[in-house]
Amino acid sequence: KTFYVKTVLTTSPVQASMFINDGGVVAFPTETVYGLGANVFNKDALGRIFEAKQRPPDNPLIVHIGKIEQLNELTVELPETAKKLIRSFFPGPLTVVLKKSDRVPYIATAGLDTVGVRMPRNGMAGEFLAACGVPVAAPSANLSGRPSPTTWQAVLEDLDGRIDCILQGEATVIGLESTVVDCTGERPELLRTGAIPIEELKKILPNIVEFSEGEGNASRSPGLRHRHYSPKAKVVLFHPNADATDYGSSAFIGINSPKINFRLQKICSSTDEYARSVFEFFRECDRQELNRIYCETVLTEGIGTALMDRLHRAAEDL
Ligand code: TXA
Ligand code: MG
Repeated sequence: KTFYVKTVLTTSPVQASMFINDGGVVAFPTETVYGLGANVFNKDALGRIFEAKQRPPDNPLIVHIGKIEQLNELTVELPETAKKLIRSFFPGPLTVVLKKSDRVPYIATAGLDTVGVRMPRNGMAGEFLAACGVPVAAPSANLSGRPSPTTWQAVLEDLDGRIDCILQGEATVIGLESTVVDCTGERPELLRTGAIPIEELKKILPNIVEFSEGEGNASRSPGLRHRHYSPKAKVVLFHPNADATDYGSSAFIGINSPKINFRLQKICSSTDEYARSVFEFFRECDRQELNRIYCETVLTEGIGTALMDRLHRAAEDL
């Protein structure tokens, strides 16, 4: 099906919220990546998110709230583990999975009886959500499978003519998606590594179950089944002391300078900067039609755990 809508660009959270209240879909900044939002209680609007992104219907959306009281509209009970996480990390880059209330349509949760909720700490997101007045369901604002967008220009690149509005904020400060924790089971369970490191979660919830492949988690966190974060170029995990083949049409991103010169390279001053830059770097490599992207591996500690997870997925070896 082909469709075309005029995509309005605005820096006004209030103007952007009017599209939400008219049943539209709006991209907006958060501290992690840009989201593509719709009123969580409007099934048609939710359908348009899946259509615009070409997102598989079995991949649930995260619901964004502007104030804690909105949890009452989305869930019936708050387990003690969820209360602890919310006290420590809301507003911030953490998504808690809770039992959903009857008001949350199944299209938002991909048929699950649970709902993922988060309260962004980005200032413009807060103004936007306050103006919307309703919780806003939003996956990342990229075409399905592509790297998540960390700038409004990256959203425009993927979704111009497919969504109603883009709220033009700053480039996102974290650059990787939120950490997802399921609070509906006997023990809290990490479903997706992300911006809040597991080390921080363990300080609050020492008994948290860490995600491990092949233990049925794929069905619990359906989004992880799908192809993700992929530029057109081939992603190769790389140690900067190693030799690369074919580097003439290749790129490098990492922290240590490689031995050889690549066509395009980005040397980051920290793992944080690497995490913040990696998705935009993937997009730039595609704009320049490079064949391969060599990505330096990092230690799996702090944000490094989520960064390595995204790199493995982009390299399609997870
Ligand atoms: O930082 C983020 O999380 C960004 C911003 C926009 O908030 N959102 C985001 O959404 O990256 P995305 O495209 O990754 O999709 C949401 C993911 C799903 O793929 C799934 O892994 C998880 O959140 N999720 C959402 N609801 C869930 C549920 N009820 N049970 C298990 N996992 C869920
Ligand atoms: Mg996504």
